[in-house]
Amino acid sequence: MPRFAQRMKTMEKSANIIRGLFGAMNDPELISFGGGAPAREALPVDIVREIAADVITTGKKGIQALQYGSVMGLPELREVVVDHLLAPKGIKAKAENILITSGGLEGVNLLCQVYIDPGDIILVESPTFVHCVEIFEMFEAKCIAVDMDDDGMNTEDLEAKIIKYKPKMVYVIPTFHNPTGRTLSLERRQKIAELGSKYDVIILEDDPYRDIRYSGSDLLPIKAFDETGHTVLANSFSKIFSPGSRLGYILADDEISAKLFNAKTATNSHTSMLPQVICAEFFKRGYYPAHHRMICDLYRQRRDTMIECIDKYFPEGTKRVFPDGGLFTWAELPGGINTTELLEEAVKNPDVKVAYVAGEGFFTEGGGKGINCMRLSFGSVTPEKIRVGMERLGGLIRSKLK
Ligand SMILES: Cc1ncc(COP(=O)(O)O)c(C=O)c1O
Repeated sequence: MPRFAQRMKTMEKSANIIRGLFGAMNDPELISFGGGAPAREALPVDIVREIAADVITTGKKGIQALQYGSVMGLPELREVVVDHLLAPKGIKAKAENILITSGGLEGVNLLCQVYIDPGDIILVESPTFVHCVEIFEMFEAKCIAVDMDDDGMNTEDLEAKIIKYKPKMVYVIPTFHNPTGRTLSLERRQKIAELGSKYDVIILEDDPYRDIRYSGSDLLPIKAFDETGHTVLANSFSKIFSPGSRLGYILADDEISAKLFNAKTATNSHTSMLPQVICAEFFKRGYYPAHHRMICDLYRQRRDTMIECIDKYFPEGTKRVFPDGGLFTWAELPGGINTTELLEEAVKNPDVKVAYVAGEGFFTEGGGKGINCMRLSFGSVTPEKIRVGMERLGGLIRSKLK
């Protein structure tokens, strides 16, 4: 057999972590706080059924949905992004600068195609989203971790590392961060945009959770502070509409948009038309506001239950994040507990049968960082199951401290 491409080797470690994430999900008896999928109740099945039937039986739309489309995406959906998602949040953008992608991840992938050569440095948060690390490694980039705290990425450490490593890109998840649920403060958002301009570094702002805010108030994205075009905003319809539709978008200034157009053409010509048409109709027919309220209420209740259970069942000395939105919280356990080892027992022990994601894999720097941490996803678990699962998991953790 011919040799595999070098990139297959570079991405092996993160690929294994991701495979591990999905491994336990198929056991129906397991209560899983592992995956990051939306709640099944948050998927607008009935609305999509109605729209899909209508679209397919309406001559012009039916043809449009099944025909080739334009590289940048369906014009109506790009208008939806500008008018329904960005403008109400104080973000000024033109539809020409929006590219519709196949899921949020494709935006990250395309921007890497445009900018990343083998050996380039990408600064990432510590911890960060493994799936994107896998993409960065596929492009043979080297990830360097930047400290973070409750207010998100530490901008002093960021500036020091920009000076030291001269990165091509900074990858940041500013709102309800994956895996921690933390949100980057407004001051730091502004600072990061300024650092991108000052040091000529691309800021990749990956913001798929920003629209699922159920407490606190909205913060402007980093992109809103960008005066030189160095910040690129990637977002997704996965958490507000449907992940299976594989829809996302990327907002970039003219020069970068032109290159993204070329990368998208060479990748898959354009994003699937049928989901684009359906999703655009979902917004244009006015379904989004009520749907959005419903999912926020649902996740707020799950967040409250999860936090209440951590406080009740986890040992004293546990630190946890109280997220104002999104699907995750992050717990740091006391007493030197190794969450990677604990996970095996939590999943296999018939009296526990609970999954979470061990913290270690989210830290690109390795060295045992995050070994006592866990990501707990409450999005797709009912409050009743959250209570049962957290009581069992808390009991297991406490038994280790005795
Ligand atoms: C931080 C982050 N970026 C990007 C994505 C990708 O979203 P999509 O499913 O739209 O590709 C996710 C999904 O979990 C995510 O958590």
